[in-house]
Amino acid sequence: MTRIFLTGATGFLGRELLLRLLRRDTEVMTLVRPRGDEGTAEAYARIREVVQALEPEAPASGLRVTLGDVAAPELGLAPEGRAFLLEAEGPVQIVHGAAQVRFDLPWEVMEKQNIRGTEYVLAWAWRLHELGRLHRLDYVSTTYVAGDRTDLVLETELSRGQTPRNGYERSKLLAEELVEAARKEGLPVTVHRPSIIVGDSRTGRASSFKVLYWPLKVYARGRWRTVFGRPDCPVDVVPVDFVADAMNALLDDPAATGRTVHLAAGPERQSSIGALAQMAEVFFEGPKVRYVDPDFYVKYVRPMVHPILKLLRPDVVNQGIVFLPYLRSNPSFDVRVASELLAPHGVSPPPVESYFETIMAFARDQAFGREVEEG
Ligand SMILES: NC(=O)c1ccc[n+]([C@@H]2O[C@H](COP(=O)([O-])OP(=O)(O)OC[C@H]3O[C@@H](n4cnc5c(N)ncnc54)[C@H](OP(=O)(O)O)[C@@H]3O)[C@@H](O)[C@H]2O)c1
Repeated sequence: MTRIFLTGATGFLGRELLLRLLRRDTEVMTLVRPRGDEGTAEAYARIREVVQALEPEAPASGLRVTLGDVAAPELGLAPEGRAFLLEAEGPVQIVHGAAQVRFDLPWEVMEKQNIRGTEYVLAWAWRLHELGRLHRLDYVSTTYVAGDRTDLVLETELSRGQTPRNGYERSKLLAEELVEAARKEGLPVTVHRPSIIVGDSRTGRASSFKVLYWPLKVYARGRWRTVFGRPDCPVDVVPVDFVADAMNALLDDPAATGRTVHLAAGPERQSSIGALAQMAEVFFEGPKVRYVDPDFYVKYVRPMVHPILKLLRPDVVNQGIVFLPYLRSNPSFDVRVASELLAPHGVSPPPVESYFETIMAFARDQAFGREVEEG
C-alpha cells in the first residue's frame, strides 16, 4: 500500500482509521498539532498511546509523526513531514480528516480551520502531483454539505442551492467545493462523506460523544423529555467501525479515484427521530418522549419561554438551539456509489437498531464523556 500522510489522526474517526492502516503495516505519517511546547517525541508518545488505548497490541512499526497545524500556511510542517512528502521514496496518498467539527464556533474559526486548512492541503497535493509524487488525495467531508435540503441527495451532487444550517456545514461545503474544483482540474481525488458517526457497532467504543449523543445524554439524565422536532424526521447514523473500515478499503481501491461516496446508512437503513427516541425510552427505561412542532415552538413558544429557560437550563438551551434544525428535517443520502464500491470489500453499514444498545451502554458507562465534554 502507498505511504499515507494523515491529518486528524488523534480524532474520533482518525484514530480508528490510523489503527487499521497500522495493522496493514503501512507507513503512516501523522500530522499532529502540538499541545503547548510538546516536541515530536512527546507527540509520538501521545499518538502511540491513543492507538494502544484502542488495541494494546497494535503494530507501530509504520507510525511516524510530524508536528504541524492545518490552519497554518504549508500546514506549518516540521522537517520530518516535509522530508516524508518531498524526499522519501515512493508516491504519497494524502488523507485529510482534520477539521473543527463544533457547530457553535465563530465563523472566523471555522473558515480558518476548515477552509484555509483544506486550501493548504490542496496546495501540497498539487505540488506533489506536479512532482509526480501524489498517489491520491482522500478528503473527509460530510453528508451534511447538503445543508437544508430535504430530498434524496446523490453522491454526484454538491452545490444545489442549499443553505447551510450552521458554520460547520457552511465551512465543509465551501471546502468541498475547493476539492471538487481541484478534481475538475485533474487532481486525483476521492471524497468520503460520512453521515452522523457514532460508536463502534460491536463494542460501543467512542472517543467523543458529540452530535447524536447530546440529546440522548440529556434524556438519559432525566433532565428533558420534550423534543422540538418531528418523529418522522430522518436521521442517518453510522458506526465508526463502518466508516473506518470503508475508508480503509477505499483508500487502496483505484476504482474509488475521482468518486464521492456517502458513508451513510442510506434511505433503506436510515433511522428517524421517533425510532431513536423509542429505543432510548426502552434502553433508559425512561418516560415517553413528547414532541412539539418545531415551527410552532420557534414562532410562539420560544419568544416567551426562552429567557426563563436560559436562566434555568442554559446548557439545554445553548446546545438545543444548535441541534434544532436537525430535529425538524433532514435529507436522505443515496448510497449507490458507496455500495457499488464497497460490495467487493464486504463492507456495509449495519442498521442502528442492531447496535443502539451497545453504543448507549458504552456511553452510559463513560458518563457520556462527562469529564471531558460536559455541557
Ligand atoms: N463525527 C462525525 O459525526 C462526523 C460526521 C461526518 C463527517 N465528519 C468529518 O470527519 C472528520 C473527523 O471528524 P471527528 O468527529 O473525528 O472530529 P474530532 O474527533 O474533533 O477530530 C478532529 C481531528 O482534527 C484535528 N485538527 C483539528 N484542527 C486541527 C489543526 N488546525 N491542525 C491539525 N489538526 C487539527 C484534531 O486534532 P487535535 O487532537 O489537535 O484537536 C483531531 O485529530 C472531520 O473532517 C469531520 O468533518 C465527522
